[in-house]
Amino acid sequence: MSLEKLQEKVGTQKHLLDFWNELNETERDQLSEQVLSMDFSACHAAFVSSAQPPLPIKELRPIPDERHVIKAHLSKDEVENYWNKGLNAIAKGQVAAVVLAGGQASRLGSDQPKGTLPLGLHISPQDSLLGLQAAKIAKLELLAREAYPDCNGKIQWLVMTSKSTDEPTRKHLEKVVPEAGLLLEQVTIFSQDNIPAFDMSGNFLLADKHTITTSPNGNGGLFSAISKYLPGLDKRGVKYVHVYCVDNVLARVADPIFTGIAVEKGADVLTKTVERKPGELVGSVCLNDGVPRIVEYSELGAELESQKAPNGRLLFCAGSIANHLFTLDFLKGFCTPSFHLPYHRALKKISYVDANGVVVKPTAPNGIKLEQFVFDVFDLSKNFYIFEVKNEQEFAPLKNAESAGVDCLSTCRRSLANETRRWLKESGFVLPKGLVTYIKADETYAGEVFLILFPKICKDPKIKPSRWASFEEAYRPTNRDREETALKCLNREKRPNCKNEQ
Ligand code: UD1
Repeated sequence: MSLEKLQEKVGTQKHLLDFWNELNETERDQLSEQVLSMDFSACHAAFVSSAQPPLPIKELRPIPDERHVIKAHLSKDEVENYWNKGLNAIAKGQVAAVVLAGGQASRLGSDQPKGTLPLGLHISPQDSLLGLQAAKIAKLELLAREAYPDCNGKIQWLVMTSKSTDEPTRKHLEKVVPEAGLLLEQVTIFSQDNIPAFDMSGNFLLADKHTITTSPNGNGGLFSAISKYLPGLDKRGVKYVHVYCVDNVLARVADPIFTGIAVEKGADVLTKTVERKPGELVGSVCLNDGVPRIVEYSELGAELESQKAPNGRLLFCAGSIANHLFTLDFLKGFCTPSFHLPYHRALKKISYVDANGVVVKPTAPNGIKLEQFVFDVFDLSKNFYIFEVKNEQEFAPLKNAESAGVDCLSTCRRSLANETRRWLKESGFVLPKGLVTYIKADETYAGEVFLILFPKICKDPKIKPSRWASFEEAYRPTNRDREETALKCLNREKRPNCKNEQ
């Protein structure tokens, strides 16, 4: 490609070619390829339009009570009904899970993708976020098969990466997917698009003399990137798509209760929330002019942010944990390769090559990255629900380096250990004080381990399951505990024909 042609293509961004004469053949090829692959006017238009808030605020109201399912308010029977409906959908192969793993983990400061980092649990294969999630998916498939023995539904797992996370994520999945007992065929890895980063005036930046700086186009880049996989999912009979962030160590991947609510309510979009407390800097799910959306803390304003409802909770109490469920029909309604959402601006410190060819590492934000947000499609929903769960049971994200002291590796491990302790306690077993233990995800999905385990132990004294040994040592179940647990399990009678169930 001639220099003249490239100059024509870059238009006003001529500085991108300032170092052309210093580049070798390979570097010239790389720069030419990047320039040719970019739509300069679309990028410029995205920069200009992102100056306005993507979705202007009109009138904000909380999500009405009848669309706000609170797990803590459900009876045991209701929970079990939703669980069974969700498990039934899994047994029928109707559930897919999509993990958003394209972020650059800049706050964490790791050069390895978050999903692949060792968590320090020392249990293989789940000593990483992705490993843990793979094991949970395998466990769910097993639970579904046990409940519906004539079905053999698989959960399709789609992993969205980006340019920088793709290769290491693929390598890691090649290892943990088979270890967890999943088939590589049920895992689809695809990459979201990148978009150029800008200086404050909207000029593109050079990362080095032959590379234009780009970054992933936000987790809302999912919808264009996934569009080509939707027909395949449709063909397999998938109806429900759980979309969640890679960074939450307590994420209940393809949670049957969540899916069960969607099945029962006929919801096309459902999002998990936790109760927001005053001053918490999380986005709130609400209605804007009657249409569902998430507003930032700053967009609520001081008055609405702290306003109380008659029940004593915050009026806008639905804190978003970036955990959503969409029906496949909903996604099929708008996902195309060219679909994009309005861009949000994020001020960032972005290294760049200055006019002298020197790489500058700024100490204060000097540029703008554009991002689409996955939840900005909520306004397309025709039947929207929120499902409130407990923060300590389902939300412990890995966002920061250890020095931050919050949302870091050690707090993730602590949350997982606390949740394990709670599961054991609810089953009647109190761990000795100070003992930290984790239950492998292939032994329990969310604490139901003893419902499955104890009947086997109770019925057949010859069974000495060595893999449970650590738990046997850790707690001292009484015979009564065992009998009660066995009884509970026996009450969950098998459902031989999943196809007849809704
Ligand atoms: C996100 C949510 C926020 C929620 C919070 C809870 C969005 C836009 N914001 O904020 O509402 O309260 O999580 O933890 O969802 N990702 C990509 N591609 C990208 C950018 C991000 O796949 O281009 C993925 C990340 O890998 C991660 C997830 O999206 O799994 C969230 O990204 P992150 O930048 O951590 O979002 P937060 O600002 O924490």
